[in-house]
Amino acid sequence: MRESGKLLHQVLEALKPMIKPGVTTLEIDRMAEKLIRDGGAIPSSKGYEGFPYSICASVDSEVVHGFPSDVPLRDGQIVSIDCTLILNGWQSDSAFTSPVGNVSAEAKKLIRVTEECFWKGVSQARAGNRLGDIGWAVQQHAEMNGYGVIRDFCGHGIGREMHEDPSVPNYGKPGRGARLVPGMTLTIEPMIAMGTWKVFIKDNDWTAVTRDNRPCAHYEHTLVITEGGPEILSLPSGAGVQA
Ligand code: MF3
Ligand code: CO
Ligand code: CO
Repeated sequence: MRESGKLLHQVLEALKPMIKPGVTTLEIDRMAEKLIRDGGAIPSSKGYEGFPYSICASVDSEVVHGFPSDVPLRDGQIVSIDCTLILNGWQSDSAFTSPVGNVSAEAKKLIRVTEECFWKGVSQARAGNRLGDIGWAVQQHAEMNGYGVIRDFCGHGIGREMHEDPSVPNYGKPGRGARLVPGMTLTIEPMIAMGTWKVFIKDNDWTAVTRDNRPCAHYEHTLVITEGGPEILSLPSGAGVQA
Protein backbone atom coordinates (compact mmCIF):
# COMPACT_ATOMS: atom_id res chain seq x y z
CA MET A 1 0.00 0.00 0.00
CA ARG A 2 2.99 2.32 0.49
CA GLU A 3 3.95 1.74 -3.15
CA SER A 4 0.39 2.29 -4.32
CA GLY A 5 0.12 5.51 -2.33
CA LYS A 6 3.45 6.76 -3.60
CA LEU A 7 2.35 6.33 -7.21
CA LEU A 8 -0.98 8.02 -6.53
CA HIS A 9 0.84 10.98 -5.00
CA GLN A 10 3.04 11.28 -8.09
CA VAL A 11 0.00 11.14 -10.36
CA LEU A 12 -1.89 13.86 -8.48
CA GLU A 13 1.20 16.10 -8.33
CA ALA A 14 1.56 15.79 -12.10
CA LEU A 15 -2.09 16.77 -12.62
CA LYS A 16 -1.96 19.91 -10.45
CA PRO A 17 -0.10 22.13 -12.97
CA MET A 18 -2.74 21.28 -15.62
CA ILE A 19 -5.47 22.99 -13.63
CA LYS A 20 -5.89 26.35 -15.36
CA PRO A 21 -8.69 28.23 -17.09
CA GLY A 22 -9.38 26.61 -20.48
CA VAL A 23 -8.42 23.04 -19.65
CA THR A 24 -11.19 20.44 -19.59
CA THR A 25 -11.58 17.90 -16.82
CA LEU A 26 -11.71 15.21 -19.53
CA GLU A 27 -8.16 16.19 -20.50
CA ILE A 28 -7.16 15.83 -16.85
CA ASP A 29 -8.93 12.45 -16.72
CA ARG A 30 -7.06 11.18 -19.78
CA MET A 31 -3.72 12.33 -18.35
CA ALA A 32 -4.52 10.64 -15.04
CA GLU A 33 -5.32 7.35 -16.77
CA LYS A 34 -2.10 7.49 -18.79
CA LEU A 35 0.05 8.23 -15.74
CA ILE A 36 -1.62 5.47 -13.72
CA ARG A 37 -1.15 2.87 -16.45
CA ASP A 38 2.45 4.03 -17.14
CA GLY A 39 3.08 3.42 -13.44
CA GLY A 40 1.92 -0.18 -13.81
CA ALA A 41 -1.37 0.41 -12.01
CA ILE A 42 -5.07 0.41 -12.91
CA PRO A 43 -7.50 3.30 -12.35
CA SER A 44 -9.86 1.58 -9.93
CA SER A 45 -12.73 4.05 -10.21
CA LYS A 46 -13.09 3.29 -13.93
CA GLY A 47 -15.83 0.69 -14.10
CA TYR A 48 -16.44 0.78 -10.33
CA GLU A 49 -20.19 0.21 -10.02
CA GLY A 50 -20.37 1.60 -13.54
CA PHE A 51 -18.47 4.85 -12.91
CA PRO A 52 -17.00 5.68 -16.34
CA TYR A 53 -13.80 7.64 -15.56
CA SER A 54 -10.37 7.43 -13.92
CA ILE A 55 -10.94 10.52 -11.77
CA CYS A 56 -13.88 12.25 -10.21
CA ALA A 57 -13.81 15.97 -11.11
CA SER A 58 -16.26 18.00 -9.05
CA VAL A 59 -16.62 21.71 -9.85
CA ASP A 60 -17.84 24.41 -7.42
CA SER A 61 -21.10 23.14 -5.85
CA GLU A 62 -20.42 19.56 -6.93
CA VAL A 63 -19.40 17.68 -3.79
CA VAL A 64 -18.10 14.33 -5.05
CA HIS A 65 -18.36 11.91 -7.99
CA GLY A 66 -18.32 14.66 -10.62
CA PHE A 67 -18.02 13.40 -14.20
CA PRO A 68 -15.06 14.76 -16.16
CA SER A 69 -16.45 16.84 -19.03
CA ASP A 70 -15.46 18.68 -22.20
CA VAL A 71 -16.51 22.03 -20.75
CA PRO A 72 -13.36 24.14 -20.16
CA LEU A 73 -12.68 25.19 -16.58
CA ARG A 74 -13.17 28.94 -16.00
CA ASP A 75 -11.24 31.48 -13.96
CA GLY A 76 -12.67 31.72 -10.45
CA GLN A 77 -13.98 28.17 -10.19
CA ILE A 78 -12.73 25.53 -7.78
CA VAL A 79 -12.33 21.89 -8.80
CA SER A 80 -11.92 18.76 -6.68
CA ILE A 81 -9.93 15.94 -8.25
CA ASP A 82 -10.41 12.54 -6.57
CA CYS A 83 -8.48 9.52 -7.79
CA THR A 84 -8.18 5.87 -6.75
CA LEU A 85 -5.71 3.40 -8.19
CA ILE A 86 -4.77 -0.21 -7.62
CA LEU A 87 -1.12 -1.28 -7.79
CA ASN A 88 -0.17 -4.95 -7.35
CA GLY A 89 -3.57 -5.58 -5.79
CA TRP A 90 -3.50 -2.69 -3.32
CA GLN A 91 -5.72 0.36 -3.45
CA SER A 92 -4.94 3.97 -2.63
CA ASP A 93 -7.32 6.91 -2.71
CA SER A 94 -6.59 10.65 -2.54
CA ALA A 95 -8.30 13.92 -3.44
CA PHE A 96 -7.62 17.64 -3.36
CA THR A 97 -9.41 20.83 -4.31
CA SER A 98 -7.66 23.42 -6.46
CA PRO A 99 -8.50 26.97 -7.44
CA VAL A 100 -8.83 27.60 -11.18
CA GLY A 101 -6.91 30.80 -11.94
CA ASN A 102 -7.83 33.60 -9.55
CA VAL A 103 -10.51 32.73 -7.03
CA SER A 104 -12.23 34.71 -4.29
CA ALA A 105 -10.73 34.97 -0.81
CA GLU A 106 -13.84 33.09 0.36
CA ALA A 107 -13.11 30.14 -1.92
CA LYS A 108 -9.44 30.09 -0.94
CA LYS A 109 -10.42 29.96 2.71
CA LEU A 110 -12.82 27.06 2.09
CA ILE A 111 -10.02 25.08 0.43
CA ARG A 112 -7.57 25.89 3.23
CA VAL A 113 -9.97 25.04 6.05
CA THR A 114 -10.93 21.74 4.37
CA GLU A 115 -7.27 20.74 4.29
CA GLU A 116 -6.92 21.83 7.94
CA CYS A 117 -9.94 19.66 8.80
CA PHE A 118 -8.12 16.68 7.31
CA TRP A 119 -5.09 17.32 9.53
CA LYS A 120 -7.31 17.74 12.59
CA GLY A 121 -8.68 14.28 11.80
CA VAL A 122 -5.20 12.85 11.29
CA SER A 123 -4.10 14.14 14.68
CA GLN A 124 -6.74 11.86 16.25
CA ALA A 125 -5.91 8.83 14.07
CA ARG A 126 -3.92 7.08 16.78
CA ALA A 127 -4.08 3.55 18.14
CA GLY A 128 -6.43 3.47 21.13
CA ASN A 129 -8.55 6.39 19.93
CA ARG A 130 -11.96 5.84 18.35
CA LEU A 131 -13.51 6.78 15.04
CA GLY A 132 -15.65 9.40 16.78
CA ASP A 133 -12.48 11.23 17.84
CA ILE A 134 -11.55 11.71 14.19
CA GLY A 135 -15.04 12.82 13.17
CA TRP A 136 -15.37 15.18 16.09
CA ALA A 137 -12.04 16.88 15.32
CA VAL A 138 -13.00 17.41 11.68
CA GLN A 139 -16.50 18.65 12.52
CA GLN A 140 -15.32 21.07 15.22
CA HIS A 141 -12.91 22.80 12.90
CA ALA A 142 -15.38 23.03 10.01
CA GLU A 143 -18.27 24.33 12.09
CA MET A 144 -16.04 26.77 13.98
CA ASN A 145 -15.43 28.34 10.58
CA GLY A 146 -19.16 28.45 9.80
CA TYR A 147 -19.04 25.61 7.28
CA GLY A 148 -21.20 22.52 6.82
CA VAL A 149 -19.88 18.96 7.06
CA ILE A 150 -21.21 16.69 4.32
CA ARG A 151 -22.95 13.70 5.97
CA ASP A 152 -23.90 11.57 2.98
CA PHE A 153 -20.30 10.56 2.22
CA CYS A 154 -17.53 9.43 4.56
CA GLY A 155 -13.99 8.17 4.68
CA HIS A 156 -13.60 4.40 4.70
CA GLY A 157 -11.36 1.44 5.27
CA ILE A 158 -9.25 0.60 2.22
CA GLY A 159 -6.95 -2.25 1.22
CA ARG A 160 -7.56 -4.92 -1.39
CA GLU A 161 -10.89 -3.14 -1.98
CA MET A 162 -11.45 0.57 -2.52
CA HIS A 163 -14.20 0.73 0.08
CA GLU A 164 -13.88 -1.47 3.16
CA ASP A 165 -15.18 -1.25 6.70
CA PRO A 166 -15.22 0.84 8.75
CA SER A 167 -16.99 3.97 7.55
CA VAL A 168 -15.07 7.06 8.75
CA PRO A 169 -17.55 9.92 9.21
CA ASN A 170 -16.44 13.55 9.27
CA TYR A 171 -18.67 14.17 12.28
CA GLY A 172 -19.08 12.37 15.59
CA LYS A 173 -18.62 12.32 19.32
CA PRO A 174 -15.30 11.89 21.13
CA GLY A 175 -14.83 8.42 22.61
CA ARG A 176 -17.51 6.83 20.43
CA GLY A 177 -17.27 4.35 17.59
CA ALA A 178 -14.81 1.60 16.69
CA ARG A 179 -11.38 1.62 18.28
CA LEU A 180 -8.35 2.28 16.08
CA VAL A 181 -5.66 -0.41 16.10
CA PRO A 182 -2.20 -0.58 14.50
CA GLY A 183 -2.30 -1.88 10.95
CA MET A 184 -5.71 -0.38 10.10
CA THR A 185 -5.65 1.32 6.71
CA LEU A 186 -8.28 3.94 6.02
CA THR A 187 -9.04 7.22 4.33
CA ILE A 188 -9.85 10.50 5.99
CA GLU A 189 -11.66 12.72 3.51
CA PRO A 190 -13.52 15.78 4.74
CA MET A 191 -16.02 17.24 2.29
CA ILE A 192 -16.73 20.73 3.59
CA ALA A 193 -19.45 23.05 2.25
CA MET A 194 -19.56 26.83 2.44
CA GLY A 195 -23.28 26.62 3.21
CA THR A 196 -25.62 23.69 3.77
CA TRP A 197 -24.32 20.14 4.05
CA LYS A 198 -27.45 18.83 2.35
CA VAL A 199 -26.93 17.42 -1.13
CA PHE A 200 -28.88 16.10 -4.09
CA ILE A 201 -27.79 13.64 -6.77
CA LYS A 202 -27.67 14.77 -10.39
CA ASP A 203 -29.44 13.06 -13.29
CA ASN A 204 -26.28 11.06 -14.02
CA ASP A 205 -27.10 9.13 -10.79
CA TRP A 206 -23.60 9.81 -9.43
CA THR A 207 -22.72 13.43 -8.85
CA ALA A 208 -23.63 14.94 -5.47
CA VAL A 209 -24.30 18.71 -5.47
CA THR A 210 -25.00 21.04 -2.54
CA ARG A 211 -28.69 21.92 -2.29
CA ASP A 212 -27.96 25.63 -1.91
CA ASN A 213 -25.56 25.50 -4.86
CA ARG A 214 -22.75 27.01 -2.79
CA PRO A 215 -19.23 25.61 -3.23
CA CYS A 216 -17.78 22.54 -1.53
CA ALA A 217 -14.17 21.36 -1.11
CA HIS A 218 -12.71 17.87 -0.59
CA TYR A 219 -9.34 16.68 0.72
CA GLU A 220 -8.40 13.03 1.09
CA HIS A 221 -5.48 10.75 1.82
CA THR A 222 -4.97 7.04 2.50
CA LEU A 223 -3.25 6.31 5.80
CA VAL A 224 -2.20 3.53 8.12
CA ILE A 225 -2.43 3.53 11.90
CA THR A 226 0.96 2.53 13.32
CA GLU A 227 2.20 2.16 16.90
CA GLY A 228 4.05 5.43 16.35
CA GLY A 229 1.07 7.35 14.94
CA PRO A 230 -0.65 7.84 11.59
CA GLU A 231 1.42 7.39 8.43
CA ILE A 232 0.00 9.01 5.31
CA LEU A 233 0.56 6.56 2.48
CA SER A 234 -0.46 8.95 -0.31
CA LEU A 235 2.12 11.57 0.71
CA PRO A 236 5.90 11.11 0.33
CA SER A 237 7.88 9.32 3.03
CA GLY A 238 5.21 8.81 5.64
CA ALA A 239 4.30 12.42 6.28
CA GLY A 240 2.13 12.64 9.35
CA VAL A 241 4.08 10.20 11.51
CA GLN A 242 4.32 11.61 14.99
CA ALA A 243 6.37 9.58 17.46
N1 MF3 B 1 -12.56 8.09 -4.58
C1 MF3 B 1 -13.88 8.00 -4.04
C2 MF3 B 1 -13.76 7.92 -2.55
O1 MF3 B 1 -13.05 8.70 -1.99
C3 MF3 B 1 -14.65 6.88 -4.62
C4 MF3 B 1 -14.96 7.11 -6.03
S1 MF3 B 1 -15.82 5.80 -6.64
C5 MF3 B 1 -16.17 6.29 -8.17
O2 MF3 B 1 -14.29 7.10 -1.87
F1 MF3 B 1 -16.65 5.27 -8.74
F2 MF3 B 1 -16.98 7.32 -8.12
F3 MF3 B 1 -15.06 6.70 -8.74
CO1 CO C 1 -11.43 9.35 -3.15
CO1 CO D 1 -12.23 7.64 -0.46
